[in-house]
Amino acid sequence: MKLNIALLAGDGIGPEVVDQAVKVCDAIANKYNHEISWKPALTGAAAIDAVGEPYPDETHEICASSDAVLFGAIGHPRFDNDPSAKVRPEQGLLKMRQKLGLFANVRPTFTFPSLIDKSPLKRDRIEGTDLIILRELTGGVYFGERGRKDDNNTAFDTMTYQRFEIERLARKGFEMAMKRSKKLCCVDKANVLESSRLWRETVQAMEKEFPEVTVSYEFVDATAMRLIQWPKGYDVIITANLFGDILTDEASVISGSMGLMPSSSVGSKVSLYEPIHGSYPQAAGKDIANPLATVLSAAMLFEDLELTKEAEEIRRVVNKSLAEGIVTEDLAEGGKSYKTSEVGDWLAKNI
Ligand code: IPM
Ligand code: MN
Repeated sequence: MKLNIALLAGDGIGPEVVDQAVKVCDAIANKYNHEISWKPALTGAAAIDAVGEPYPDETHEICASSDAVLFGAIGHPRFDNDPSAKVRPEQGLLKMRQKLGLFANVRPTFTFPSLIDKSPLKRDRIEGTDLIILRELTGGVYFGERGRKDDNNTAFDTMTYQRFEIERLARKGFEMAMKRSKKLCCVDKANVLESSRLWRETVQAMEKEFPEVTVSYEFVDATAMRLIQWPKGYDVIITANLFGDILTDEASVISGSMGLMPSSSVGSKVSLYEPIHGSYPQAAGKDIANPLATVLSAAMLFEDLELTKEAEEIRRVVNKSLAEGIVTEDLAEGGKSYKTSEVGDWLAKNI
Protein backbone atom coordinates (compact mmCIF):
# COMPACT_ATOMS: atom_id res chain seq x y z
CA MET A 1 0.00 0.00 0.00
CA LYS A 2 1.14 3.56 -0.71
CA LEU A 3 0.72 5.87 2.25
CA ASN A 4 1.11 9.61 2.64
CA ILE A 5 1.53 10.44 6.30
CA ALA A 6 1.71 14.01 7.57
CA LEU A 7 4.39 14.24 10.23
CA LEU A 8 3.80 16.88 12.87
CA ALA A 9 6.62 16.61 15.39
CA GLY A 10 5.64 19.72 17.35
CA ASP A 11 7.40 20.87 20.50
CA GLY A 12 9.51 19.59 23.39
CA ILE A 13 10.12 15.87 23.15
CA GLY A 14 7.76 15.68 20.14
CA PRO A 15 10.50 15.49 17.50
CA GLU A 16 12.44 12.82 19.41
CA VAL A 17 9.52 10.48 20.01
CA VAL A 18 8.13 10.95 16.51
CA ASP A 19 11.54 10.04 15.05
CA GLN A 20 11.35 6.64 16.72
CA ALA A 21 7.85 6.01 15.43
CA VAL A 22 9.09 6.85 11.93
CA LYS A 23 11.88 4.27 12.27
CA VAL A 24 9.34 1.68 13.36
CA CYS A 25 6.87 2.53 10.56
CA ASP A 26 9.65 2.42 7.96
CA ALA A 27 10.69 -1.01 9.23
CA ILE A 28 7.07 -2.17 8.98
CA ALA A 29 6.78 -0.75 5.46
CA ASN A 30 9.92 -2.59 4.50
CA LYS A 31 8.72 -5.89 5.92
CA TYR A 32 5.18 -5.76 4.52
CA ASN A 33 5.90 -4.01 1.21
CA HIS A 34 4.32 -0.66 1.80
CA GLU A 35 5.61 2.66 0.65
CA ILE A 36 5.37 5.50 3.16
CA SER A 37 5.90 9.05 2.06
CA TRP A 38 6.38 11.30 5.10
CA LYS A 39 5.18 14.89 4.83
CA PRO A 40 6.73 16.96 7.62
CA ALA A 41 4.86 20.12 8.66
CA LEU A 42 5.14 22.77 11.35
CA THR A 43 2.91 23.03 14.38
CA GLY A 44 2.89 24.41 17.94
CA ALA A 45 5.53 26.74 19.35
CA ALA A 46 7.85 25.69 16.53
CA ALA A 47 5.30 27.03 14.02
CA ILE A 48 4.74 30.22 16.03
CA ASP A 49 8.47 30.88 15.92
CA ALA A 50 8.68 30.20 12.20
CA VAL A 51 5.50 31.78 10.81
CA GLY A 52 3.67 33.40 13.74
CA GLU A 53 0.87 30.90 14.19
CA PRO A 54 0.57 27.42 15.69
CA TYR A 55 -1.39 25.68 12.90
CA PRO A 56 -0.49 27.38 9.62
CA ASP A 57 -2.69 26.92 6.53
CA GLU A 58 0.13 25.11 4.81
CA THR A 59 0.21 22.54 7.61
CA HIS A 60 -3.54 22.12 7.32
CA GLU A 61 -3.28 21.50 3.58
CA ILE A 62 -0.66 18.84 4.16
CA CYS A 63 -2.76 17.13 6.87
CA ALA A 64 -6.03 17.32 4.93
CA SER A 65 -4.47 15.73 1.85
CA SER A 66 -2.71 12.88 3.71
CA ASP A 67 -3.94 9.40 4.59
CA ALA A 68 -3.17 9.99 8.26
CA VAL A 69 -1.39 12.39 10.59
CA LEU A 70 1.28 11.34 13.07
CA PHE A 71 1.64 13.93 15.78
CA GLY A 72 4.16 14.39 18.61
CA ALA A 73 3.30 16.98 21.23
CA ILE A 74 2.51 20.65 21.56
CA GLY A 75 3.33 23.25 24.22
CA HIS A 76 6.18 25.36 25.53
CA PRO A 77 6.73 26.69 29.08
CA ARG A 78 7.42 30.21 27.88
CA PHE A 79 3.71 30.51 27.06
CA ASP A 80 2.48 28.86 30.27
CA ASN A 81 4.05 31.60 32.35
CA ASP A 82 2.57 34.34 30.25
CA PRO A 83 -1.22 34.46 30.63
CA SER A 84 -1.38 37.48 28.34
CA ALA A 85 0.16 35.66 25.34
CA LYS A 86 -2.16 36.20 22.38
CA VAL A 87 -1.00 33.21 20.38
CA ARG A 88 -0.46 29.93 22.22
CA PRO A 89 0.78 26.57 20.91
CA GLU A 90 -2.31 24.77 22.30
CA GLN A 91 -4.53 26.87 20.04
CA GLY A 92 -2.85 25.06 17.17
CA LEU A 93 -4.03 21.72 18.49
CA LEU A 94 -7.59 22.95 18.95
CA LYS A 95 -7.66 24.54 15.50
CA MET A 96 -6.30 21.36 13.98
CA ARG A 97 -8.97 19.23 15.69
CA GLN A 98 -11.67 21.59 14.52
CA LYS A 99 -10.46 22.10 10.94
CA LEU A 100 -9.86 18.39 10.38
CA GLY A 101 -13.21 17.57 12.02
CA LEU A 102 -11.64 15.18 14.54
CA PHE A 103 -14.70 14.82 16.74
CA ALA A 104 -13.84 11.55 18.48
CA ASN A 105 -10.75 11.01 20.56
CA VAL A 106 -10.01 7.36 21.25
CA ARG A 107 -7.90 6.91 24.38
CA PRO A 108 -7.34 3.31 25.44
CA THR A 109 -6.05 2.26 28.83
CA PHE A 110 -4.47 -1.16 29.23
CA THR A 111 -1.73 -2.75 31.25
CA PHE A 112 1.49 -4.44 30.20
CA PRO A 113 2.16 -7.72 32.01
CA SER A 114 5.81 -6.82 32.58
CA LEU A 115 4.97 -3.40 34.02
CA ILE A 116 2.05 -4.10 36.34
CA ASP A 117 4.08 -3.25 39.41
CA LYS A 118 5.06 0.16 37.97
CA SER A 119 1.54 1.37 38.59
CA PRO A 120 0.88 3.06 41.94
CA LEU A 121 -2.33 1.02 42.08
CA LYS A 122 -2.49 -2.49 43.46
CA ARG A 123 -1.87 -5.34 41.03
CA ASP A 124 -5.16 -7.18 41.63
CA ARG A 125 -7.15 -4.04 40.92
CA ILE A 126 -5.56 -3.24 37.58
CA GLU A 127 -4.32 -6.49 36.09
CA GLY A 128 -6.31 -7.12 32.92
CA THR A 129 -7.65 -3.58 32.60
CA ASP A 130 -8.70 -2.90 29.03
CA LEU A 131 -10.92 0.10 28.53
CA ILE A 132 -11.40 2.90 26.06
CA ILE A 133 -12.37 6.44 26.84
CA LEU A 134 -14.04 7.99 23.84
CA ARG A 135 -13.80 11.71 24.37
CA GLU A 136 -15.82 14.23 22.34
CA LEU A 137 -13.16 16.51 20.85
CA THR A 138 -14.61 19.38 18.84
CA GLY A 139 -17.39 20.70 21.04
CA GLY A 140 -18.32 21.48 24.62
CA VAL A 141 -16.64 24.06 26.81
CA TYR A 142 -13.46 23.99 24.73
CA PHE A 143 -15.30 25.58 21.82
CA GLY A 144 -18.24 27.37 23.45
CA GLU A 145 -18.72 31.08 23.78
CA ARG A 146 -16.22 32.68 26.14
CA GLY A 147 -15.13 36.06 27.26
CA ARG A 148 -14.97 38.72 29.94
CA LYS A 149 -17.68 41.07 31.14
CA ASP A 150 -17.04 44.79 30.71
CA ASP A 151 -15.78 45.25 34.27
CA ASN A 152 -13.09 42.62 33.57
CA ASN A 153 -13.89 40.97 36.91
CA THR A 154 -16.08 38.25 35.42
CA ALA A 155 -15.05 35.61 32.91
CA PHE A 156 -17.13 32.86 31.32
CA ASP A 157 -16.74 29.72 29.22
CA THR A 158 -19.88 28.04 27.94
CA MET A 159 -20.51 24.33 27.65
CA THR A 160 -22.73 23.87 24.62
CA TYR A 161 -23.68 20.61 22.92
CA GLN A 162 -25.89 19.95 19.96
CA ARG A 163 -27.76 16.67 19.63
CA PHE A 164 -25.91 15.68 16.43
CA GLU A 165 -22.53 16.11 18.14
CA ILE A 166 -23.55 13.75 20.92
CA GLU A 167 -25.14 11.31 18.51
CA ARG A 168 -22.13 10.89 16.21
CA LEU A 169 -19.79 10.38 19.17
CA ALA A 170 -22.19 7.96 20.88
CA ARG A 171 -22.58 6.00 17.64
CA LYS A 172 -18.84 5.41 17.54
CA GLY A 173 -19.04 4.33 21.18
CA PHE A 174 -21.84 1.83 20.51
CA GLU A 175 -20.01 0.46 17.47
CA MET A 176 -16.81 0.09 19.46
CA ALA A 177 -18.64 -1.62 22.32
CA MET A 178 -20.19 -4.07 19.82
CA LYS A 179 -16.68 -5.19 18.83
CA ARG A 180 -15.59 -5.52 22.45
CA SER A 181 -17.42 -6.49 25.65
CA LYS A 182 -20.69 -4.80 24.61
CA LYS A 183 -20.65 -2.46 27.59
CA LEU A 184 -21.03 1.29 27.18
CA CYS A 185 -20.92 3.85 29.97
CA CYS A 186 -22.09 7.40 29.36
CA VAL A 187 -20.30 9.74 31.77
CA ASP A 188 -21.80 13.15 32.43
CA LYS A 189 -23.01 15.51 35.13
CA ALA A 190 -26.70 15.25 34.38
CA ASN A 191 -27.66 15.95 37.99
CA VAL A 192 -26.46 19.53 37.46
CA LEU A 193 -25.83 20.40 33.82
CA GLU A 194 -28.45 20.84 31.11
CA SER A 195 -25.99 19.86 28.37
CA SER A 196 -25.41 16.59 30.23
CA ARG A 197 -29.15 15.97 30.34
CA LEU A 198 -29.14 16.29 26.54
CA TRP A 199 -26.30 13.72 26.46
CA ARG A 200 -28.32 11.28 28.52
CA GLU A 201 -31.51 11.80 26.55
CA THR A 202 -29.67 11.35 23.24
CA VAL A 203 -27.83 8.21 24.29
CA GLN A 204 -30.96 6.70 25.84
CA ALA A 205 -32.80 7.22 22.56
CA MET A 206 -30.06 5.31 20.71
CA GLU A 207 -30.15 2.27 22.99
CA LYS A 208 -32.82 0.50 20.91
CA GLU A 209 -30.57 0.64 17.84
CA PHE A 210 -27.99 -1.43 19.70
CA PRO A 211 -30.02 -3.88 21.81
CA GLU A 212 -26.99 -6.07 22.53
CA VAL A 213 -25.09 -3.28 24.24
CA THR A 214 -25.59 -2.81 27.97
CA VAL A 215 -25.59 0.91 28.65
CA SER A 216 -24.93 2.51 32.02
CA TYR A 217 -24.96 6.15 33.05
CA GLU A 218 -22.67 7.70 35.62
CA PHE A 219 -21.84 11.10 37.01
CA VAL A 220 -18.31 12.15 36.24
CA ASP A 221 -17.30 12.65 39.87
CA ALA A 222 -18.26 9.06 40.65
CA THR A 223 -16.42 7.82 37.57
CA ALA A 224 -13.27 9.64 38.68
CA MET A 225 -13.39 7.52 41.81
CA ARG A 226 -14.43 4.18 40.29
CA LEU A 227 -11.93 4.43 37.47
CA ILE A 228 -9.02 3.91 39.84
CA GLN A 229 -10.94 1.82 42.33
CA TRP A 230 -12.04 -0.84 39.83
CA PRO A 231 -11.03 0.00 36.23
CA LYS A 232 -12.01 -3.49 35.10
CA GLY A 233 -15.63 -2.43 35.55
CA TYR A 234 -15.38 -0.38 32.33
CA ASP A 235 -15.26 -1.25 28.65
CA VAL A 236 -16.13 1.80 26.52
CA ILE A 237 -16.77 5.17 28.15
CA ILE A 238 -18.25 8.05 26.17
CA THR A 239 -17.96 11.53 27.55
CA ALA A 240 -17.76 15.25 26.83
CA ASN A 241 -14.58 17.09 25.90
CA LEU A 242 -13.51 18.45 29.30
CA PHE A 243 -14.59 15.41 31.31
CA GLY A 244 -12.65 13.21 28.90
CA ASP A 245 -9.57 15.40 29.15
CA ILE A 246 -9.50 14.95 32.91
CA LEU A 247 -10.47 11.27 33.05
CA THR A 248 -7.89 10.21 30.45
CA ASP A 249 -5.01 11.74 32.40
CA GLU A 250 -6.30 9.93 35.45
CA ALA A 251 -6.63 6.66 33.56
CA SER A 252 -3.06 6.85 32.26
CA VAL A 253 -1.80 6.24 35.80
CA ILE A 254 -3.25 2.73 35.64
CA SER A 255 -0.75 1.62 33.01
CA GLY A 256 2.19 2.82 35.10
CA SER A 257 3.62 5.57 32.91
CA MET A 258 2.21 8.46 30.94
CA GLY A 259 4.80 7.59 28.33
CA LEU A 260 2.94 4.46 27.31
CA MET A 261 -0.58 5.32 26.20
CA PRO A 262 -1.41 6.04 22.56
CA SER A 263 -4.45 7.75 21.10
CA SER A 264 -6.25 8.46 17.89
CA SER A 265 -8.51 11.33 16.94
CA VAL A 266 -10.97 10.45 14.24
CA GLY A 267 -13.54 12.26 12.19
CA SER A 268 -15.11 11.63 8.86
CA LYS A 269 -11.91 11.94 6.81
CA VAL A 270 -8.27 11.91 7.86
CA SER A 271 -7.38 10.69 11.38
CA LEU A 272 -4.62 11.79 13.70
CA TYR A 273 -2.45 9.63 15.94
CA GLU A 274 -0.58 10.94 18.97
CA PRO A 275 0.74 9.94 22.37
CA ILE A 276 -1.47 11.17 25.20
CA HIS A 277 1.48 12.71 27.04
CA GLY A 278 2.50 16.33 26.54
CA SER A 279 5.67 18.01 25.31
CA TYR A 280 7.65 17.32 28.54
CA PRO A 281 9.96 20.33 28.03
CA GLN A 282 12.32 19.34 30.86
CA ALA A 283 13.41 16.34 28.81
CA ALA A 284 13.52 18.00 25.39
CA GLY A 285 16.70 17.33 23.44
CA LYS A 286 18.08 14.92 26.04
CA ASP A 287 17.21 11.70 24.22
CA ILE A 288 15.58 10.28 27.39
CA ALA A 289 11.83 10.47 26.67
CA ASN A 290 9.84 7.27 26.36
CA PRO A 291 8.87 6.83 22.69
CA LEU A 292 6.46 3.91 23.22
CA ALA A 293 3.22 5.91 23.37
CA THR A 294 4.03 7.37 19.95
CA VAL A 295 5.11 4.02 18.56
CA LEU A 296 1.85 2.48 19.83
CA SER A 297 -0.06 5.37 18.26
CA ALA A 298 1.48 4.31 14.95
CA ALA A 299 0.08 0.82 15.65
CA MET A 300 -3.38 2.38 15.96
CA LEU A 301 -2.78 4.09 12.63
CA PHE A 302 -2.11 0.78 10.88
CA GLU A 303 -5.06 -0.83 12.66
CA ASP A 304 -7.43 1.87 11.38
CA LEU A 305 -6.14 1.34 7.84
CA GLU A 306 -7.07 -2.31 8.34
CA LEU A 307 -3.42 -3.30 8.29
CA THR A 308 -3.91 -5.56 11.28
CA LYS A 309 -0.79 -7.70 10.92
CA GLU A 310 1.33 -4.56 10.83
CA ALA A 311 -0.33 -3.20 13.98
CA GLU A 312 0.13 -6.51 15.78
CA GLU A 313 3.77 -6.63 14.79
CA ILE A 314 4.37 -3.23 16.37
CA ARG A 315 2.65 -4.30 19.59
CA ARG A 316 4.62 -7.53 19.62
CA VAL A 317 7.97 -5.78 19.33
CA VAL A 318 6.99 -3.21 21.98
CA ASN A 319 6.08 -5.98 24.42
CA LYS A 320 9.33 -7.73 23.59
CA SER A 321 11.35 -4.60 24.35
CA LEU A 322 9.58 -4.24 27.70
CA ALA A 323 10.08 -7.88 28.60
CA GLU A 324 13.78 -7.67 27.71
CA GLY A 325 14.32 -4.42 29.58
CA ILE A 326 15.12 -2.29 26.52
CA VAL A 327 13.49 0.71 28.17
CA THR A 328 14.02 4.42 28.77
CA GLU A 329 14.90 5.65 32.25
CA ASP A 330 11.29 6.24 33.36
CA LEU A 331 10.78 2.47 33.30
CA ALA A 332 14.26 1.32 34.31
CA GLU A 333 13.83 1.55 38.11
CA GLY A 334 17.47 2.48 38.58
CA GLY A 335 18.59 -0.43 36.41
CA LYS A 336 20.08 -0.19 32.95
CA SER A 337 18.24 2.25 30.75
CA TYR A 338 18.44 3.12 27.08
CA LYS A 339 18.22 6.37 25.18
CA THR A 340 15.08 7.27 23.24
CA SER A 341 16.93 6.75 19.98
CA GLU A 342 18.37 3.40 21.12
CA VAL A 343 14.90 2.10 21.94
CA GLY A 344 13.71 3.21 18.49
CA ASP A 345 16.66 1.52 16.77
CA TRP A 346 16.08 -1.67 18.75
CA LEU A 347 12.40 -1.79 17.87
CA ALA A 348 13.09 -1.19 14.16
CA LYS A 349 15.79 -3.85 14.12
CA ASN A 350 13.50 -6.41 15.76
CA ILE A 351 10.69 -6.02 13.25
C1 IPM B 1 -4.92 16.84 25.58
C2 IPM B 1 -4.31 18.15 26.02
C3 IPM B 1 -5.00 19.27 25.27
C4 IPM B 1 -6.46 19.25 25.66
C5 IPM B 1 -4.42 20.67 25.51
C6 IPM B 1 -2.94 20.71 25.25
C7 IPM B 1 -5.14 21.71 24.71
O1 IPM B 1 -4.38 18.31 27.39
O2 IPM B 1 -4.81 16.52 24.39
O3 IPM B 1 -5.50 16.15 26.41
O4 IPM B 1 -6.85 19.77 26.71
O5 IPM B 1 -7.25 18.69 24.90
MN1 MN C 1 -5.24 16.59 28.41
